[in-house]
Amino acid sequence: MPVSILMVCLGNICRSPLAEGILASKLPASDFIVDSAGTGSWHVGHAPDKRSIGVAKKNKLDISKQKGRQFSSRDFDSFDYIYVMDHSNYKDVLAMAKTPEQESKVKMILNELFPDENVDVPDPYYGTDNGFDMVYNMLDEACDIISKNLLKKHT
Ligand code: 4NP
Repeated sequence: MPVSILMVCLGNICRSPLAEGILASKLPASDFIVDSAGTGSWHVGHAPDKRSIGVAKKNKLDISKQKGRQFSSRDFDSFDYIYVMDHSNYKDVLAMAKTPEQESKVKMILNELFPDENVDVPDPYYGTDNGFDMVYNMLDEACDIISKNLLKKHT
């Protein structure tokens, strides 16, 4: 059985599509499934934001084929690990958990870099292009740690 990881943000068009693309690029697809979802429904079926596609492309990743979808309580059964981007995603996802085991799957992604500090990945949607570079770099560093730990644990 492949190990499955879900990245979650609010819209599923800026941060979590990048997190999905970055982590997937660091893990063998034969052993790991990486997906993303948003807590909101505005962008269901939409491609990622052009600025996320652009910063990914600049870093040699193609995330343009991804399609937005909304997080659902079924995701607690389908995924082994759930990484959220910020406090608000954490609260929204945790509110849908039904068991302590489901709750324990949910982690703030930047706690991989800054343990226990609960730092948010800032939402770049209303900001400048520069915000997307910053988000990319944060997620790349976090996904480096996540992928190394997953490969150690599961292969
Ligand atoms: P994301 O950014 O959560 O990183 O995908 C957002 C994109 C769109 C909206 C909110 C956040 N929105 O409200 O449409």
